[in-house]
Amino acid sequence: MEFKVFEDKESLGKALAECLAALVKQKPNAVLGLATGSSPIPTYQALIQIAHEEGISFKEVTTFNLDEYVGLPEDDPESYRTFMRKELFSSLDFMEGAHHFPSEENMKDYDSMIDRKGGIDIQVLGIGTNGHIGFNEPETPFDSKTHVTTLAESTRHDNARFFGGDINAVPKKAVTMGLRTILGAKEIVLIATGKNKAEAIKKLHDGKADPSCPATILSERPEGVTIYLDKEAASLIA
Ligand code: F6R
Repeated sequence: MEFKVFEDKESLGKALAECLAALVKQKPNAVLGLATGSSPIPTYQALIQIAHEEGISFKEVTTFNLDEYVGLPEDDPESYRTFMRKELFSSLDFMEGAHHFPSEENMKDYDSMIDRKGGIDIQVLGIGTNGHIGFNEPETPFDSKTHVTTLAESTRHDNARFFGGDINAVPKKAVTMGLRTILGAKEIVLIATGKNKAEAIKKLHDGKADPSCPATILSERPEGVTIYLDKEAASLIA
């Protein structure tokens, strides 16, 4: 596992976007695993800019998102489909049908859908303050596949900022890729920015796989995992 520390979230986003753009240039039919939330926004903005400057096409690219809330209509302003459309998909030339999100309907088939596309080339992750990746909350079994999960109270609290600060508006359940699903990606990049992620990053850096901090499953993979940090998220490991 490699840790890279950047001056700020913008320079982090640019570096990671360059890596995603290089993959798509080299493999136009790449399969991307994507995350929502605040962490990947600078990366998506930089990727759009690079793609436009360099004329990189996403026509053959397939995407699989990590998670989606249960109970929100697809076009809800806070659904992860809406987030992805707004932050990335609508600005690039993806084909219709290129995007996949886990749902209660397809969750039993989601891992096979990924396999049938040849597997995920790069999986982008954020990390929760409690160490979750996707919505795999603490104590999720390490061998989990795509499944319905109950969001931790702390996660609903953290995400209330997207719902006008009202924790009661945050759904209680989500469908998420499992930890085993995530670990199956050929390459994994995790983004953490801000002081509130420093504690979880320290546990990840300690290198001991511990279900109370789900991200530590990444330490089972010595190769192909890169952790992108800003200085604040890296503050306890420097
Ligand atoms: C989002 C996801 C979550 C977030 C995490 C951090 O698709 O899977 O694990 O990455 O909750 O969220 P932010 O980036 O908003 O701090």
